[in-house]
Amino acid sequence: MERKKTQVAIIGAGPSGLLLSLLLNKQGIDTVILERVTGDYVLGRIRAGVLEQGFAKLVREAGAAHNMDTLGEVHHGVEFAIDDKRVPIELTELTGESVIVYGQVDITRDMMEEREKRGIEAVYEASNVQPHDVKSDNPYITYEKDGVEYKLECDYIAGCDGFHGVSRKTIPDDVKTEYEKVYPFGWLGLMSDTPPINEELIYSKTKRGFALASMRSKTRSRYYLQVPLSDTVEDWSDERFWEELKKRMPKDAVKNLVTGKSIEKSIVPTRSFICEPLQYGNLFLVGDAGHIVPPTGAKGLNLAASDVATLYKIMTRVYKEGDKKCIEQYSPIALRRIWNGVRFSWWMTDLLHNFGDEKDFYEQRMETSELEFFLNSEAGKKVIAEQYVGLPYEDLK
Ligand code: APR
Ligand code: PHB
Repeated sequence: MERKKTQVAIIGAGPSGLLLSLLLNKQGIDTVILERVTGDYVLGRIRAGVLEQGFAKLVREAGAAHNMDTLGEVHHGVEFAIDDKRVPIELTELTGESVIVYGQVDITRDMMEEREKRGIEAVYEASNVQPHDVKSDNPYITYEKDGVEYKLECDYIAGCDGFHGVSRKTIPDDVKTEYEKVYPFGWLGLMSDTPPINEELIYSKTKRGFALASMRSKTRSRYYLQVPLSDTVEDWSDERFWEELKKRMPKDAVKNLVTGKSIEKSIVPTRSFICEPLQYGNLFLVGDAGHIVPPTGAKGLNLAASDVATLYKIMTRVYKEGDKKCIEQYSPIALRRIWNGVRFSWWMTDLLHNFGDEKDFYEQRMETSELEFFLNSEAGKKVIAEQYVGLPYEDLK
């Protein structure tokens, strides 16, 4: 078995792992990333594209923000619609903040390129990645690459390996509590090289189900439809998708809809999941490894970023000041923000989707009433805006 050594071993080269490695590298802290699949495979996963300012600031600090800041679009508002009634939420007027619309694939590619440029080590197609002795002062990871077995010794392990990764499984069942809610529908997404229907995103609630109009640029649109979990992509020709979207977007927006051939179509399930705690000995769960939110509100990537921010501050203090005690702050600080994000995503998901028989007529009416209440009130819109742009990051004690 070949032996290697680093300070912080990172499992997973998704956005969480890459961002953490770039930030730690800026502080002179050595990392090695172990990734199960190829870089191209990582870039093949299409995900949301709304970045909070906190995330954008971190990417700047990490030195990977050039494309985000030149190609990303700053959005000062977002729209909600109930049937044909459209309600703009002026994010900047209400909160002083904005969001950046820039795809997760693009930000991941930018961070991958920056990592390579700076010579930070990443092992792609590493198999059988397994953390060991994470409660001891000498944790290590074993893995295989090209038929050779490796032992990577380290001080800390950052589990950035997504929902299906190995890190969370390393925490014994009697130590962790897992909370899960699986929603009875999925999101069918379609990407097309057509101009967006509207300048701002539109989250639309209709009796036929929820729809979202989003975008990647002035010439690329991203749309979503709530669909039953039993549906497959093959059930949805482009024509069927566009026809349904027209029925779920407000009428005066549909006038601007340009349809075209899809360049990607996929269905994602919608669920909430939280693992407590996020730290076990010298192992930390970061991003999707520790929590998942339904995509309504685009909080997944942004919550991953706030985890990274907290762990980055902790690791910097550990290595610069020798304060090892502060690692205990990771889980409580990260979880406070995560639960808020989970609550906001749950609220948005509940109020905007059609739950069919799962909710009785009374509950459905209450949800419409609640959404109308918030959208008709300046205070209500402000509450939505504050959460949409993202709550502030909490500092270490
Ligand atoms: N060994 C090594 N790598 C692994 C393993 C393993 N056993 N299991 C999973 N991975 C890798 C995956 O291949 C993936 O590239 O870990 C990476 C995890 O990346 P993501 O799932 O993208 O998770 P994360 O980086 O936390 O990103 C946060 O934001 O918008 C949301 O859910 C969305 O991906 C998104 C997330
Ligand atoms: C997206 O553009 O893919 C997107 C935007 C907002 C969401 C979810 C997804 O809430």
